[in-house]
Amino acid sequence: MTTLSVSTSSAASLRADALVVGVAKGPKGPVLAPGSETVAEAFDGTLADVLATLGAVGAEGEAVKVPAPAGLKAPLVLAVGLGEATEDGYAQETLRRAAGVAARTLAGTKKAALLLPAESAAEVEAVALGALLGAYAFGTYKGENGKVPVGELIVASTRKGGKDAKAAVERAAAIGEEMNRARDLVNTAPNDLNPKSFATIAQAAGKEHGLKVEVLDEKALLKGGFGGILGVGVGSANPPRLVKVAYTHPKAKATLAFVGKGITYDSGGISLKPAGHNETMKCDMSGAAAVFAAVVAAKRLGLQVNVTAWLALAENMPSGSATRPGDVLRMYGGKTVEVLNTDAEGRLVLADAIVRAGEEKPDVIVDVATLTGAMVLALGTRTFGVMSNDDALRTRLHETAGAVGEQSWPMPLPADLRKGMTESTIADLANMGERMGGGLVAGLFLKEFVAEGIDWAHLDIAGPAFNEGGPFGYTPKGGTASAVRTLVRYAEDVAAGA
Ligand code: BES
Ligand code: MN
Ligand code: ZN
Repeated sequence: MTTLSVSTSSAASLRADALVVGVAKGPKGPVLAPGSETVAEAFDGTLADVLATLGAVGAEGEAVKVPAPAGLKAPLVLAVGLGEATEDGYAQETLRRAAGVAARTLAGTKKAALLLPAESAAEVEAVALGALLGAYAFGTYKGENGKVPVGELIVASTRKGGKDAKAAVERAAAIGEEMNRARDLVNTAPNDLNPKSFATIAQAAGKEHGLKVEVLDEKALLKGGFGGILGVGVGSANPPRLVKVAYTHPKAKATLAFVGKGITYDSGGISLKPAGHNETMKCDMSGAAAVFAAVVAAKRLGLQVNVTAWLALAENMPSGSATRPGDVLRMYGGKTVEVLNTDAEGRLVLADAIVRAGEEKPDVIVDVATLTGAMVLALGTRTFGVMSNDDALRTRLHETAGAVGEQSWPMPLPADLRKGMTESTIADLANMGERMGGGLVAGLFLKEFVAEGIDWAHLDIAGPAFNEGGPFGYTPKGGTASAVRTLVRYAEDVAAGA
């Protein structure tokens, strides 16, 4: 595992395999960013020219390696691009991405020191988090030729006192390590990660961090009347689970419920997905992985707020025992749902979990789900949709996401789309409505299960949860841990009374 630390010593005395500096786009070519001064001195002031000769312009995403001169205790200097040069500091997301590029580029080295322009504690945290996330590599199934992440990342800080820089790096470690855990869960093959093994992992992590974990197995789900979760899981040889992970703080003034869609594999069920649409469907538990990571991070950060994560875990498979299109399920809480398409399964498991979460009267429920292909068509693969029964909460979560460097966009829940789910069915609701606006229809379905008086928001992360393209910034191929930072920052803000 990659370790993070902070150092206030000068670059000249830092012993590492590589020193990372920032380079930005100046009016006449690449310019070195603050933090690089001692490294630049060791080059007798020629580093910017050397970089220009090597083709560097300072663009974001750029990484250029230069052998280090005598006088430095590292053999290599890596310059990472920061985009347009500025006098008054770089955006935290720019720093996170540049640090991520650096850590990824340096895979295979043991120790790297980052000398990026990190002045405030928040900037130190951004560099540390970006580096830890960029260092991530999923090696479970790779043999000896797998990528070995950087072993040790040192964030150099010019901050005097250094104490809050140390705290900033510790915060980054708590958030980054839990995000990387979520990525591992998403990337694990669905023959290894099923509802039962996911629940076991949650129990082990709960024990490690002192969280209360309760698991409802298929018998308990049947006894409790969780018709949605059971209806989705009944076709699989791997039975479903509902997992509750609770973090409580003795001085908490608010309780947040985070509900995650945890379909460990979505084949579509009897409404089977065609080839080309199912190869990445192990990612369909990304919401559950995100809420799980968020509650563990909340505990590690000691936030003064109660956070309960609900993981709605099932495998959606076709078989002789599977739910048919046309079946009616009796959901937890008593509503009936006609299943017109077994591939619209996420809303079924979430509905049960949202009703169950609502029984505990949290102040807010936020669900996170890879819910609809429609949301990917609407917003692309890097932006999640935010829906809510409360305009202020929707705006707030969108802004919180922006503050931590996650792309999101507020989406409406138009009342007129509801009738497509009620008029077409023999039950209270159908699990499908109009095709147009499919992401909003799914949101409207979930809204039916939110108890009166509870503010609820729905994050549809179907686009950004799983990166099928090449890595960029601190985002690897595969699982991304989308929405974790938004949830954690939101919990932090609530804990701070905001
Ligand atoms: N898990 C999928 C949604 C999805 C699509 C996630 C692409 C990630 C990438 C979901 O269960 C699903 O199949 N939704 C259907 C709903 C439809 C049948 C109403 C969809 O979006 O096509
Ligand atoms: Mn589906
Ligand atoms: Zn699904």
